[in-house]
Amino acid sequence: MRIVSRISELRAAFAEAPSAVRAFVPTMGNLHEGHISLMRQARAQLADSGASDGIVAASVFVNRLQFGPNEDFERYPRTFERDCAALEAGGVDIVFAPEESELYPEPQQYYVDPPPAQKLLEGAFRPDHFRGVATVVLKLFNIVQPQFAFFGKKDYQQLLLIRGMARQLALPVAIVAGETVRDQDGLALSSRNGYLSPAERAEAPRLYRQLCALRETILEHRRSGKTLGAEDYSRIENAAASGLDTHGWKTDYISIRRRSDLQAPASPETDGLVILAASRLGATRLIDNIEL
Ligand code: PAF
Repeated sequence: MRIVSRISELRAAFAEAPSAVRAFVPTMGNLHEGHISLMRQARAQLADSGASDGIVAASVFVNRLQFGPNEDFERYPRTFERDCAALEAGGVDIVFAPEESELYPEPQQYYVDPPPAQKLLEGAFRPDHFRGVATVVLKLFNIVQPQFAFFGKKDYQQLLLIRGMARQLALPVAIVAGETVRDQDGLALSSRNGYLSPAERAEAPRLYRQLCALRETILEHRRSGKTLGAEDYSRIENAAASGLDTHGWKTDYISIRRRSDLQAPASPETDGLVILAASRLGATRLIDNIEL
């Protein structure tokens, strides 16, 4: 596995195999099994695509642009050596790990401004977050020029906005989704889980359990032939949030949305739904979601 920190080095490495299909997994490091499963998926995609030559590339870069002023940019865990060992074991061919001065040699003044869906859900609590994500992802796409790029469903809104960006800007890359990887107790793997105290870690799976219970409530209504309307959705969302908050959580949202555009579902519902949540446990903000 090669590790490069300069754009020119990366381009030179790709130039050695100009016809190789590139599968790319962007990350902010502090890798866990969720990331590594994306690396494996990238490798499998190359095999499936029938390409005679393929390269799995990953990036490790903590992108300041997507963090708000009071967020955890400074303390975001940086574990580069351990990450490289995991990437190598995960079958990655080349790692791009630029310094900030390489990716942002001058203050970034051109941004990708995603559509209004960027202001929903996460965007309501993290202004400009998705602008920062979309900008760095487009920049990484321009540098790596992958045919396939992989994003986990855990960051559901991010996945939707990146898909939209690739489609509307006619980027020559297929966006591939990876399933959320969970610990045995259901907690979605996340770099931020490392912030949890032992007591918080024991409590944390309640978020997923609450999502599962909410899904069951919706399915139960459907089985009994009841059509849910906006008031029903809002009532069961509020009940689910209270169910967390009585156990010490501070819930930003639990929302039942359409998968296609993250808008509130119509009634009667015909589209696929997803339930998304963000809640704080102590100083740690966890997000998760579950599709119906
Ligand atoms: O999902 C992440 O880790 C980040 O948002 C990404 C896509 C690597 C952009 O910095």
